[in-house]
Amino acid sequence: MSVPTLPLNDGNHVPWIAFGTGTALYQQDATQAVRLAIDNGFTHLDGAQMYNNEETLGAGVVASGKSRSELFITTKLAKLQTGETAKTALQTSLKKLGIAQVDLYLIHVPRQHEGQLKQVWKDMEACKKEGLTKSIGVSNFQPAHLEEILEVATIPPAVNQIELHPYVWKSLQPVIAVHKEHGIITSSFGGLSPLFRAKGGPLDPVIEQIRARLEATRGKPVSDGQVLNKWMQQKGILVVTTSSKAERIREYVDTSNVPELTSEEVDLIEETGSQVHKKFFVSFFA
Ligand SMILES: NC(=O)c1ccc[n+]([C@@H]2O[C@H](COP(=O)([O-])OP(=O)(O)OC[C@H]3O[C@@H](n4cnc5c(N)ncnc54)[C@H](OP(=O)(O)O)[C@@H]3O)[C@@H](O)[C@H]2O)c1
Repeated sequence: MSVPTLPLNDGNHVPWIAFGTGTALYQQDATQAVRLAIDNGFTHLDGAQMYNNEETLGAGVVASGKSRSELFITTKLAKLQTGETAKTALQTSLKKLGIAQVDLYLIHVPRQHEGQLKQVWKDMEACKKEGLTKSIGVSNFQPAHLEEILEVATIPPAVNQIELHPYVWKSLQPVIAVHKEHGIITSSFGGLSPLFRAKGGPLDPVIEQIRARLEATRGKPVSDGQVLNKWMQQKGILVVTTSSKAERIREYVDTSNVPELTSEEVDLIEETGSQVHKKFFVSFFA
């Protein structure tokens, strides 16, 4: 089964759901996890220099037996070391990953490049022009960070990967407005937070009600995670998630086969999520 894609503002396409090698796999050997994800239907792998496991992401790709052209690989720029540029850092990543080009290269954290963001973005553009990456984008950028690089950009970012779930949805409206203006795809990490990082919140009964309705409509099991992932898929959001379990990985990929939420259900998720504000990755990425 092929994974649906989202169109990027540079003409490329990105599989709408990615398997992340941060959080649970941060600084860990990701070989088996990446292989498990690919074997069970993922085609997009989300890595980062900061995760310190790019070699094992590459090893997982090799172990899967898939050809490079069947996969979409993302990595992210870490804080620059003395003498390093976005380009030399990417060249190091490519060696570790064992590939000639990534599909997407993101600036991971704007705070790590204070006073240098414009120059770093020009270097990101050079990486795309020289074919080291097909697309470029950012992560954890707030409107002011986006506006700063857009002042000098000849290529706008294709993606901004941010913490996104219903309990931060309301607070994200200003950055999402900038995304819409420039055709930037909103990408989510921490999307399943309401299920286990904020269990007991006002969304619990709403998710259960929608899950039961979708399950009855489909005539097959639908999970809580699929409700949240479907909400994001319908909004054109690129979901970055992860799991250690084959069954859950299949469930994530199967989200595309779950019936659509009604506009009333979409509104209910957003209105209920807006009743509380809970951010889980705030301290490091603010
Ligand atoms: N750009 C950034 O700054 C940034 C920051 C954070 C993360 N990320 C990226 O996003 C990826 C995913 O991050 P995330 O962990 O925040 O994703 P998430 O989709 O919010 O959560 C995935 C985790 O949820 C668990 N899970 C799923 N359904 C569950 C349920 N019903 N009950 C309990 N636990 C459940 C899974 O555990 P099981 O193993 O038990 O399935 C898995 O560890 C990372 O790997 C990384 O690539 C990027």
